[in-house]
Amino acid sequence: MEKEVTGYALITGASGGIGRALALQFAQHKIPLILVARREPELLELNLEIKNMAGRDLSVVYACDLTNPAGFDQLMSWIKDQNLHIKYLVNNAGYGNGGAFLSNPEAQEVNLLHLNIEALVKLCHTIGNQMKNRGGGFILNVGSTAGYLPGPFLSTYYASKAFVNSFTQSLHEELRPFGISVTLLAPGPVETAFVDRAGIGNSPLFKRLSVMTAETVAKSGFFALQKKQAICVPGLQNKLLIWSLRITPAAMARRISGFLNHAKG
Ligand SMILES: NC(=O)c1ccc[n+]([C@@H]2O[C@H](COP(=O)([O-])OP(=O)(O)OC[C@H]3O[C@@H](n4cnc5c(N)ncnc54)[C@H](OP(=O)(O)O)[C@@H]3O)[C@@H](O)[C@H]2O)c1
Repeated sequence: MEKEVTGYALITGASGGIGRALALQFAQHKIPLILVARREPELLELNLEIKNMAGRDLSVVYACDLTNPAGFDQLMSWIKDQNLHIKYLVNNAGYGNGGAFLSNPEAQEVNLLHLNIEALVKLCHTIGNQMKNRGGGFILNVGSTAGYLPGPFLSTYYASKAFVNSFTQSLHEELRPFGISVTLLAPGPVETAFVDRAGIGNSPLFKRLSVMTAETVAKSGFFALQKKQAICVPGLQNKLLIWSLRITPAAMARRISGFLNHAKG
């Protein structure tokens, strides 16, 4: 593929769900893409869909596990070797572990932190410095409404999103003088493979609350990034949830959250 001069959008977790929908948003705006996730066949399928949509090659694929330090370093070297200039960084890859913390395998809980936090921080640091040297760029980090409260039975996930929500808002202020706009996208429940991967398909969270589509969430996130917003919480239900947390006693918020997350059976 011929190198674009306009700058690429690197999207992590582009093989499905919100990341895939975000990739299609960028493609509709003719922004060239670097699609990253572990499942290469899904990335190649998206690559082809984007090519058919744009009428030309608009994306490149890099399959890797972002929790593997060697895989991460190889991705960075590949970007350097290919001389790909990244104008947009979308840290979307992430997952949740449902269930009781003490019963879940320790390695699984720690791996979640490597993906949801460590990979995101490393990408913000490496690519943020490249953007600083080039005079600007855009970063979109996918946090969650889960980051606004504790989440029994999805405890490491909620805590990891609290990190993303806080870190992203800090970077929004810190990186502004360098022409880098940093936006937090904080969705509530979204219809993706996330729910089954987390094992919370029959939890009240996904049964009782209204669930948004990945496309609607991606549209909101893309719009917020273009407008250089600090925070984007898609959907009225989610905005109301965050507002109500300000006046809800902490113990009550914890218990309701635990009830909603607890998948029975
Ligand atoms: N769905 C929701 O209700 C919801 C709500 C709020 C926030 N979010 C956040 O939205 C983001 C996207 O989630 P989603 O709902 O779209 O779920 P999803 O459909 O399961 O997508 C997760 C993406 O992350 C990638 N990924 C997982 N592990 C990876 C690894 N080790 N290395 C590289 N890529 C990896 C997956 O691709 P591979 O499997 O191919 O690697 C996939 O493309 C996550 O950060 C999630 O926390 C989701």
